[in-house]
Amino acid sequence: MICANITRTADGALRFGGADVAVLTEKYGSPLYIMDEARIRENCRTYKNAMAEAFGPAALPLYASKAASFKQIYRIMMEEGMGVDIVSSGELYTAAAVGFPMHKAYFHSNNKTDADIAYGIDCGMGHFVVDNVEELDAIDRIAGARNKIQPVLLRMTPGIDPHTYAAVSTGQVDSKFGSAIETGQAEEITRHALTCQHLRLDGFHCHVGSQVFDSDVYLRAADIMLHFVAEMRDKLGFVTTELDLGGGYGVRYTENDPIINIGANIHQVAAAVKSLCAALKLDVPVIRMEPGRSIVADAGLTVYTVGTVKRIPGYKNYVSVDGGMTDNPRFALYGSKYTVVPVSRTLPETVMRCSVVGRCCESGDIIQENVLMPADIRRGEKIAVLTTGAYNYAMSSNYNRVPRLPIVMVNKNGDYLAVRRETPADVAQYDV
Ligand code: LLP
Repeated sequence: MICANITRTADGALRFGGADVAVLTEKYGSPLYIMDEARIRENCRTYKNAMAEAFGPAALPLYASKAASFKQIYRIMMEEGMGVDIVSSGELYTAAAVGFPMHKAYFHSNNKTDADIAYGIDCGMGHFVVDNVEELDAIDRIAGARNKIQPVLLRMTPGIDPHTYAAVSTGQVDSKFGSAIETGQAEEITRHALTCQHLRLDGFHCHVGSQVFDSDVYLRAADIMLHFVAEMRDKLGFVTTELDLGGGYGVRYTENDPIINIGANIHQVAAAVKSLCAALKLDVPVIRMEPGRSIVADAGLTVYTVGTVKRIPGYKNYVSVDGGMTDNPRFALYGSKYTVVPVSRTLPETVMRCSVVGRCCESGDIIQENVLMPADIRRGEKIAVLTTGAYNYAMSSNYNRVPRLPIVMVNKNGDYLAVRRETPADVAQYDV
C-alpha cells in the first residue's frame, strides 16, 4: 500500500495504524475520519531530527496547522516539541485552549485584522510573519498600545514557480502573499520594519507552494533568500537571525507519486545553506520549515458506506457514498488524485470502473474518478479513501447542511474520539 501504516490481514480486512478499520467503523459509525497518532508523531520526528542534525539544535519545524486543526493535534505537537504555524484567530484559539506554548507559534496570513493582531499579541505570539507594510504598521501600533516589543519575520516572494497546481503556488512575484524581492518591495518593507519602535525584526520567511516534490525548489528558494539576507546586511546593516523556508514536502496520494526521503532532502538543503552562508560570509541563521501536509496526510483515511450504485450502460458507473465534497472537497477544487479501496476485501478479479461520488446535490460532488471497485459492490459495503489526513477535515463544510465527520485517533493503546460527530442540531445551532 502507499504507506506502511496501511496493511491487510490474510482474509482481506483493512488495518490502519494497527487498528481494524471495519471494527472502528462499527464502533463510531460511518462516515468517519481515522487518524494514526503514531504516524503523526513519526512524521514530526522525521522533520525534527533531520533539522536538528542538519542545521543544529535551534532549528525547529513548525507544524502548519491549516492542514488539520483541532485540539488534540496541538497537544500532540506540544508533546513532540514542535512549533506551529497558525493563520487565523480560530486556529490560535484552538491552540491556546490546550495551552500550546505560544512563544513557539508563528502567525501567518496575508490579511490579519486588527482583532487578530491584538489577540495574537495578547496570547504571547512568538512571531508574526508579516505580509505587507500596512500590516507591519498595524502590529507596531497595537504592540505599542500594549507597551510590548513584538518579534516579527517578513514574508518575501522569491519569484519561483514550484511546479505544483496553481491554487497552491505562492512563490511567484505576482502572488497575493508577501513582498516581492524582484520589485524592490522586499527591501522597502525591511527598511520600514527597522524603523518600527515596537517590533523586533528577526528575519525573513518565504513559502513557494504546497505538494512540492522537486527538492531543487527549496535549494533555489534558500539561494535567493540568502542572497537577499546578505544584501540587507550590506545595504542596511541588518543581521538576520532567523530564516523560515516555508511548507513541507509532497505526499503520496497514489502509487504514482514519488517516495520522498525527507531527511535526505533536509540534509541537502542544509549543506547548500551552509556553503552559501560561508561564501557570503553570513552566520547561518536559525532555520524554520513549516510542514503541514507531510505531517498529517498519510496519518489519515476516510471510511464511507456505499449507498446507490448506478450503472449507465455504455456510459459510466457511479458508486455513491454517505459523504462527499463536504468532507473532502479536494477533487472538486483541484482534481486531486486519491487511492480508494474496499475495507473488507482485496479487489476481486472482476472489477468495475466507476466514479466515487458524494451525496450533495451537485454534479461536481466527486471524490474520485476512474476508480476500480469490485463489480458486485453494493449498498452497505464500506470503502476507504487513503491519505486524507491533510486538508480534508480542515476544509470540510456543512454544504447541504451535512454534519461534519468525527475524527477517531488510533494509537498503541486503542482508539479514542478526537473530534465528535456533528449532529443536524449542531449544524442549525446558530440559526435564530
Ligand atoms: N506555510 C505556509 C505559509 C503555507 O501557506 C502553507 C500551505 C504551508 C506552510 C504548509 O504547506 P504543506 O507542508 O502543507 O505543503 N488546500 C490545499 C493546500 C493549501 C496550502 C496552503 N498553504 C490542498 O488541499 O492541497
